[in-house]
Amino acid sequence: VRIWCVVPAAGVGKRFGSSMPKQYLELNGKTVVENTLERLLELADIAQVIVAISPEDKRFQGLKIATHSRIKAVTGGNERCHSVLNGLRYLSEVGDAQDWVLVHDVARPCVRSADIGKLIDQVDQFDAVGGILANPVRDTMKRANRLNQIAETVDREQLWHALTPQLFRLGALRKAIEAALAEGVMVTDEAGAMERMGHQPLLVEGHYDNIKITHPQDLPLAALFMQQQ
Ligand code: CTP
Ligand code: MG
Repeated sequence: VRIWCVVPAAGVGKRFGSSMPKQYLELNGKTVVENTLERLLELADIAQVIVAISPEDKRFQGLKIATHSRIKAVTGGNERCHSVLNGLRYLSEVGDAQDWVLVHDVARPCVRSADIGKLIDQVDQFDAVGGILANPVRDTMKRANRLNQIAETVDREQLWHALTPQLFRLGALRKAIEAALAEGVMVTDEAGAMERMGHQPLLVEGHYDNIKITHPQDLPLAALFMQQQ
């Protein structure tokens, strides 16, 4: 049983709002995508990293890391789940349905390889269907009504932020995402697809610095987190 990685990297970064997609902006002297892929390549257990790239993307193939023996580019899709599915379809040709796949957002360059190791170990130890890196929420949480008035306070003890990587078996994850799409449901993460199939993936506590670069102020924050690590 091998461990593969799929990196959805076909987004345009609408919320970030720069003309260049955020994965190509500079962070610590290289692009965000190079930072993220280098972290994943640190894990010798990962057989190959499949990167889903937009068909309009002219930048990725120009990076030296695109020629790395453990990096493979595939074409991304309209939504994150389509990009992930394209990666899984490629892997179905070279891998086995029982192999494991880590799905990791290109926009999370601060992920710690030790946390990825913890995710793999815990899913194995608890014999889980799969699992995700996650953080307990820190703030008191409110549910709003339609007028943005507080309807109630939600019990924080049960709430987590879903991060990536998310780890599942190749065959089961592919089927789950295909089933969601067949019903017109755009799942926003892999666990969401597995939950729809009745599974209960494991929450594995990671670090708060595993942020997703979403808005412009996240880029200097990511640089600071990397210096601190
Ligand atoms: N992604 C993808 N294919 C898409 C959309 C998103 O591979 N069609 C990827 C992004 O590149 C990113 C990850 O999914 O690594 C998480 O998405 P997000 O942070 O939302 O990035 P964008 O979709 O690029 O940003 P925005 O939603 O602000 O446009
Ligand atoms: Mg998006």
